[in-house]
Amino acid sequence: MTVKKPTPDWSPTSGDVLRDQVAAYDAMRERCPVAYSDLLGWSLFRHGDVMRALNDPETFSNVISSRRAVPNGMDPPEHSEYRRIIELYFQPERMEAFEPECRAIAVELVQALLERDAVELMEQLAHPFAVRVQCGFLGWPAFMHQPLHHWILKGHGATAAQDRAAMADLAREFEGYVDAMLQARRAAGDQASDDVTTSLMRQEAWGRQLELGEIVSILRNWTAGEIGTISTAVGILAHYLAVCPELQQRLRDEPLLLPAAIDEMLRLHGPLVENRRVTTREVEIGGRKIAAGERISLNWIAANRDGRVFADPAEFRLDRDPATNLLYGAGIHVCPGAPLARLELRLVMEELLGRTASIDPMPGAPATRAVYPVSGFAVLPLRLRLTTVFETR
Ligand code: HEM
Repeated sequence: MTVKKPTPDWSPTSGDVLRDQVAAYDAMRERCPVAYSDLLGWSLFRHGDVMRALNDPETFSNVISSRRAVPNGMDPPEHSEYRRIIELYFQPERMEAFEPECRAIAVELVQALLERDAVELMEQLAHPFAVRVQCGFLGWPAFMHQPLHHWILKGHGATAAQDRAAMADLAREFEGYVDAMLQARRAAGDQASDDVTTSLMRQEAWGRQLELGEIVSILRNWTAGEIGTISTAVGILAHYLAVCPELQQRLRDEPLLLPAAIDEMLRLHGPLVENRRVTTREVEIGGRKIAAGERISLNWIAANRDGRVFADPAEFRLDRDPATNLLYGAGIHVCPGAPLARLELRLVMEELLGRTASIDPMPGAPATRAVYPVSGFAVLPLRLRLTTVFETR
């Protein structure tokens, strides 16, 4: 029996959506909160519906493809053991140890911006910051910056086109990088650098050492998780502050507000559009019947601006309940890298605000929005004015 495909309610790559993704997802949340599209299957736009999926992993499974993805393509109990070891790498002691290197990267890149009259923030800060921090965190050499940057860009293209062959090529490319990094460490034996990649190589799970395929998959998900979202987040934050000079000055004067302010700015404009699930049984959500085996897309951007949960959802407010913010997800797949992401974003914003007197939009050069699957900005021209007295750290 052939199952009839539902009639599409929208197209995630239509001109209207790509022109302004935040506005389009807001509109979908109100007009058609559970919507079918050929590209994504069923998209959930409301906070309550997204939470329902997050809290019911038995019905909304993460095993969305036959390709093994550690840990995000897994359900319990397999997922739980991998989560246990992955979380070891984002503990406070690891973050504390990495902070000086992460700050040094932020300082160097922000300092270089201040030597220019006009800045294109994505190219000159957001992308290099994300790539350099990820390489630093993993202990990978500087010659990997460019290949990783291009690998992420090619990944966005393949996702947008749903090009399976290109995705398989990219998986092989990444495996080659990891293999080279592991070989260098094996060759160095006891002299191998004491870094995250060496630790993973020696990591035990299930009472044995991790295999190459497992390490590749873990590192691929960390790298894709970090580089895409961090660079997008840096652009969103810089843009928000450039168009809100009062908040910009307040955060310059009171940097201790930065962690909460960053989470709230990124609630208003999410850096990650969506994540996937697949139904294991028939369900009814928002009055729509969804069959078993259907693709589900959780739209973080729309859910995090849902007025049913956030009073005055489009307002920046520091008095919200942080537990409702879905920036890093919720439930068993909640982002394990959130401590690293928060560290990176705080440091880069501290340096950007601390070393400038003002950050302004560039007159006559509006920002260009990024298009699905990327959120935020593709091009972000800004004008930075230098502080006259430098605070030494
Ligand atoms: C601003 C930056 C980031 C944002 C907004 C973000 C957001 C998220 C969200 C919403 C999820 C949940 C996905 C789901 O439920 O399907 C997630 C999962 C994940 N994130 Fe992040 N993330 C960020 C940075 C990072 C970093 C820095 C890493 C690692 C270096 C990372 C690694 C992961 C991994 C491995 C998962 C899958 C967890 C699992 O399935 O158990 N992310 N992230």
